[in-house]
Amino acid sequence: MEQNRYKFNVDGGIKDSDGGFCVQEKPGPCGIVIFGVSGDLSHRKLLPALFSIFCRRELEPNFFIAGFGRTKMDDTMFASDVYTAVKNAFKKSPDRDIKEFTSRLCYVQGGYDDPAAYEELKKKLAAFGQKYGTAGNVIYYLATPPFLALKITQHLGMCCLVGKNDSKPWRRVIVEKPFGTDLKSARQLNSELMQYLSEEQVYRIDHYLGKEMVQNVLILRFANLIFEPIWSNKYVDHIQISAMEKLGVGHRAGYFDSAGIIRDVMQNHLLQLAAMAGMEAPKLFSPDHVREETEKFIRAIDPIDVEDVVIGQYAQGNPGLKGMKPYMEEENVPAGSKTETYIAAKLTINNNRWQGVPFYVRAGKMLGKRRSQITVKFKKTTDCMFCPIPETSLSGNTLIINIQPEQGVSLTVQAKQPGPKLCISPVELNFNYRDIFGGELKDDYERLILDCMLGDQTLFWKRTEVEAAWELITPMLEKLTPAYRGVKLELYPAGTNGPEGAERLIRRDGREWI
Ligand code: BG6
Repeated sequence: MEQNRYKFNVDGGIKDSDGGFCVQEKPGPCGIVIFGVSGDLSHRKLLPALFSIFCRRELEPNFFIAGFGRTKMDDTMFASDVYTAVKNAFKKSPDRDIKEFTSRLCYVQGGYDDPAAYEELKKKLAAFGQKYGTAGNVIYYLATPPFLALKITQHLGMCCLVGKNDSKPWRRVIVEKPFGTDLKSARQLNSELMQYLSEEQVYRIDHYLGKEMVQNVLILRFANLIFEPIWSNKYVDHIQISAMEKLGVGHRAGYFDSAGIIRDVMQNHLLQLAAMAGMEAPKLFSPDHVREETEKFIRAIDPIDVEDVVIGQYAQGNPGLKGMKPYMEEENVPAGSKTETYIAAKLTINNNRWQGVPFYVRAGKMLGKRRSQITVKFKKTTDCMFCPIPETSLSGNTLIINIQPEQGVSLTVQAKQPGPKLCISPVELNFNYRDIFGGELKDDYERLILDCMLGDQTLFWKRTEVEAAWELITPMLEKLTPAYRGVKLELYPAGTNGPEGAERLIRRDGREWI
């Protein structure tokens, strides 16, 4: 570990007025280099996230941002581009704040394969590091597709912009997902990274882990004694994990068409959510312990049978629904594309806790609703004392962890309806994050960028973990050959719940999506 944050946390935690125990730290000085800075992710997420941290004064005043991209721009044009991106994200932010933020920017224009551009970057880092007193600490954020991440890493290493075990000053690399496109490419990218960096310097990001409710799963499960004893095949019937989106691919088809939702969402977000719901308790909330357990869970998932997989692509929906066009009509989608925009699968877990408890996972684009959630469906009571009501008529308890758009937890329990002598029906106990804690929640990227600045890898994938995920997903992708995919791909109308096959998949087991 570069720094033992955990010891510090315990001493440095503050008890708040409600009796909660809080740990908050402020990162030290550093420069941030964003590769692929003219792309969609930087404009919509990274730059606004950095601005937001800056406005909350959680960012050390000693910082600067360097953009690296192919687009022809100078520092001034870059500053104005960032100004627009931030203004779009925070319409009400005072110009003064945005201008203060954009005064700390510089830009390097060049090809990702051009050694001269990296030399230029080196010069700018030295000059800006000196000017803003960042002590040489740098984060390189690779907001680029996997094949470029490989090239950039090689150049950073060859130009000595990074070095193994750099800790004073520290240099860290954040690699955007998908990390590789299959097991082979992920291994190749890992071994390239390991040539020039140590594992402690590599931050494989999955923004779902930055979501408050995803982190809350561990707190809910392990900071409350009541859940752990019933969190197993003895009491749980099955688990559902959903990441449903209302938007389509928009102008990202250039990337998405070669990825598909299996690489884009299932390999990372869905597996992490499943791991949060299913992993064993880590010995400590530390990067090594948490990631060891998530990896063990992923490795315990049985090879996925393609018969347990449904793939779909959005097609023409109700013409009255605005902005909902078929995937084939999205900009840059090649004619005849068989790329899946929907996946539903049944996972079985080969360990003592989950033997016999299926995890149904699904993710899709252009659906009727945006909703990400983890649902734990408990078994029905087997012994009902409330004669003549049969136990079969009482549904099992349902615990829903809502990740978005609403964030909170709801538990369905059986209760007596007022009035008649015996009338039982399910009611919901709800906890909504915003109602209880109020205020704006941190954006996922804010949490994760701050963690990287602090040297905390808990919410980032480690090398063997990401490879474990590809070990599971790659054989499934290989079985979905183009010919088989052609037969299997179900069209679903935009704006609906997805393909019929997803309903059949779960109904086959006598269950239904919640
Ligand atoms: C990204 C995927 O990782 O997650 C996108 O590349 C997807 O395709 C997005 O739309 C969903 O994230 P969120 O936070 O909006 O649910």
